[in-house]
Amino acid sequence: MTPTGTLDALLVEERVFRPAPATVIEANVKPADLAEAYRLAEADHLAYWEKAALELEWHRKWDAVLDDGKAPFYRWFPGARTNIVHNALDRHVHIWTKNKLALIWEGEAGDCRKFTYFELYREVNRLAGALRALGVSRGDRVCLYMPPIPETVVAMLAAAKIGAVHVFVFAGYSAKFLRERLNDSKARVLVTADGFYRGGRCINLKAVVDEALPGVRGETAETVVVVRRTGDDIDMQEPRDLYYHDLLRQESPEAATEIMEAGDPLFWLHTSGTTGRPKAVVHNHGGYMVGASHTFRTVFDIKPTDIHFCTADPGWITGHTYGVYGPLLTGATVILYEGHPLYPQADRLPTIIERYGATIFYATPTLVRMLMRYGPQYPKKRDLSTLRLLGSVGEPLGPEAWMWFYKHIGRSNCPVLDTWWQTETGMAMISPMPISVLKPGSVGKALPGIAADVVDDKGQAVPPGQGGFLVVKKPWPAMLTTLEGDDAGYARDYWERIPGCYFAGDVARRDEDGYFWIQGRADDVLNIAGHRVGTAEVEAALCAHRLVTEAAVVGLPDKIKGEVAKAFVVAAPEWRAAFADADAFASELRAHVRRELGPIVVIKAVELRDTLPRTRSGKILRRKLRAEELGQALEGGTGEEE
Ligand code: WT7
Repeated sequence: MTPTGTLDALLVEERVFRPAPATVIEANVKPADLAEAYRLAEADHLAYWEKAALELEWHRKWDAVLDDGKAPFYRWFPGARTNIVHNALDRHVHIWTKNKLALIWEGEAGDCRKFTYFELYREVNRLAGALRALGVSRGDRVCLYMPPIPETVVAMLAAAKIGAVHVFVFAGYSAKFLRERLNDSKARVLVTADGFYRGGRCINLKAVVDEALPGVRGETAETVVVVRRTGDDIDMQEPRDLYYHDLLRQESPEAATEIMEAGDPLFWLHTSGTTGRPKAVVHNHGGYMVGASHTFRTVFDIKPTDIHFCTADPGWITGHTYGVYGPLLTGATVILYEGHPLYPQADRLPTIIERYGATIFYATPTLVRMLMRYGPQYPKKRDLSTLRLLGSVGEPLGPEAWMWFYKHIGRSNCPVLDTWWQTETGMAMISPMPISVLKPGSVGKALPGIAADVVDDKGQAVPPGQGGFLVVKKPWPAMLTTLEGDDAGYARDYWERIPGCYFAGDVARRDEDGYFWIQGRADDVLNIAGHRVGTAEVEAALCAHRLVTEAAVVGLPDKIKGEVAKAFVVAAPEWRAAFADADAFASELRAHVRRELGPIVVIKAVELRDTLPRTRSGKILRRKLRAEELGQALEGGTGEEE
């Protein structure tokens, strides 16, 4: 959540920005089209999405657009058959996009590799053949523990092509985390790399894999495919570990695409919730494909000449939807960057924009605030005149960062599309379009076909200007289909909190014009630099330390990261014998959390306490701790007393 100061600023924000005439004239979706889209979606929700589905190729059309007989287990396009890779790759080989650039990749050292659709197609086919030869078939899971390199995109598509389900574990996660995901998914094949470059360092990823694997169950990860990226010395264990390039050498550049049912799973992606364990969100071939493709075409207004720079790692949902699938489904060219955004200095991203002539720049508020801190002289040194659209996602951008982004990256010339969505939604849900009137700090209106609303805890719509829970009142194509292995949890967490509505877990308000203003999470989930971190997850990690008896974690506002975690810990008395002082113990606990969960979960501070405040029923009063920390008086109770 943003600092409270920003919240106040939101309430008085009244600036509006109108689109330039040229933007309106050239937009894929012009004002009359948008009005018609809202009219159609309003009159016939399913007809709207059916129209979107017809933009793609299907091997068999649907028997119905939506089967809601077993709600909330909605089935989009039942009876339809396709494979997302048919639309993302195969089909381009027969049309003019065949020799168009699909992927531009830049390594941290400035090395560059480019793939046309045809080249990407052939590489994907080789890996698809290799995976088949390793015994992977339809429905099997393939785990990806990959840095941002071209082979990562290849691996996602190759798995999907043969009907396998990719389960991506972001390369910043720990060995323990990887082991758990491997055990959950029972993936027999793991695709990884020797390492990658970030922040001027060579990170040895294979060493983390070697640490994770001894604990996995049964046949899990019996084969590890290793991409040679850094060429560093790594341990290759025979016969388990195989080099990607050796494997592909013998493979044919043609491979059959498995024709899937629309509802067959395409990938799982883990995200934090309010329990100690991340949940595996499941997305499918048909509905996800329609949502990703349609929103990328309309919101990002994609044209044949566009070069889309998505800063998100492919391992997050943003990377999946708008770094890989959305761009390829629409025949666009996408830029993937390996390294740290400020390496070797703060003009790195502007330099990439200039070098390849990026037209769309999709970033995160944390990134914008980082650039802001270094100052406008960095982007000013670069020619950013090719840019025509800016995008933001992951956390509240706020009016101040919005204005900076607009002015110093967009040269007061590019609409800022602040897109609200989630791992679970699979696609952008609330967002301005290039032709929209923009309000800095607002994520704009719900997109056509998205029944978003702000309601109270009974599900009643709240009046404009008043805060409430963000919900979606009708299903949408790219929605998660379930939580893997936890149908009950899916129904409970998302559809039963407010009956009949999808509960997003955010608090928001809507103004008189129908514009949404996101205020932050409504639950015990932190948003650290756009990454969801469950307080329960961090608390579980802390409690796994032998000297910790109890722990509570709260989020505190941070100028750059939006939010950071602070831990309150009740320690076993022996800690005094083991450490020189509280600071030394705190450092150990921070390092411990890092080892358990990975470097993205940063604990800013650790405070030792004798006891933690609890409700009569024993629940930790995190809001009390947070309020104490912020020096706020608790008025009207904590809402957690029961
Ligand atoms: C949570 C979802 C979707 C890709 C990145 C995050 C927050 C997302 C915005 C935005 C304010 C936002 C919400 C949401 N969030 N976009 N434009 N403005 N907040 O995906 O990890 O699933 O997190 O991120 O709190 O619930 P995620």
